[in-house]
Amino acid sequence: MKNNSEAAPLKSLDEWEDDVLRRYPDPESITDGKTVEEYRNYDNPERDTVKEFYRLNHTYQTYDFVLNKQAEFLKFDKKEMPIWEAYEFLNQLVDDSDPDTDLDQLQHLLQTSEAIRRDGHPDWMVLTGLLHDMGKVLCLFGEPQWAVVGDTFPVGCAHSDKIVYPEFFDQNPDSTNPAYNTKYGAYSPNCGLRNVNMSWGHDEYVYNMVKDYLPESGLYMLRYHSFYAQHREHAYDHLMDDHDREMFKWVKLFNPYDLYSKNPNPPDWKVLKPYYEDLVAKYLPATLKF
Ligand SMILES: [Fe+2]
Ligand SMILES: [Fe+2]
Repeated sequence: MKNNSEAAPLKSLDEWEDDVLRRYPDPESITDGKTVEEYRNYDNPERDTVKEFYRLNHTYQTYDFVLNKQAEFLKFDKKEMPIWEAYEFLNQLVDDSDPDTDLDQLQHLLQTSEAIRRDGHPDWMVLTGLLHDMGKVLCLFGEPQWAVVGDTFPVGCAHSDKIVYPEFFDQNPDSTNPAYNTKYGAYSPNCGLRNVNMSWGHDEYVYNMVKDYLPESGLYMLRYHSFYAQHREHAYDHLMDDHDREMFKWVKLFNPYDLYSKNPNPPDWKVLKPYYEDLVAKYLPATLKF
């Protein structure tokens, strides 16, 4: 791993998500006379740490880096535990900058899944909400923040200027490698995202962890939920096939539950517990491999 400040420029992983929310504000919260631009531009000291986070992410997430991380983590030989133990483990990722206002990771997952449940979506989608950030345990295995969170993007082909802070890709060795710096790079037109390597992080990791247990629509939500350059900006249509286009309707359906379900009131776990224990038992094995 790099030195400490490079491993963790953010005070908490939530700073990245707060920044995503500034870029893609809730349509309902910007109706009070503000424009999207005004909403985005408010002065916030978090901005500098987020910028540094993206500098590192865009510099170090190369094609080779991604293949190495896949080889290291998709063996799932680090730990084996029941999902409930995994949430306790995940909750060690507490935010030391502002412990009073930030909810722990399980609460974000429950707010997401409860918002999905309230809208009457199928139970596997509720479970998808509960699982979607489970991959952040990568931080607890010592991985730097820039290899756990952040908007994801394809590696092995040209970086779109629709990705946040595109200028930082100048420092990425792939951007001067003729094998990887053309529109299609290592890929072919409309080859389908299943043939495309994405930047490494919690999305790809959790997708692989549960890929045998959820319907494909849920798996797309897990795998591409941070791929804002596509599901919000349509920057990589040229790599998608018809099946991806069909499945991205689900990714788009999921995104507002992730971004806009955050609120300061923690869900009442005692009340919710029986429902979620049944839901997890219906779809998942007794333990998951990490
Ligand atoms: Fe996430
Ligand atoms: Fe999330």
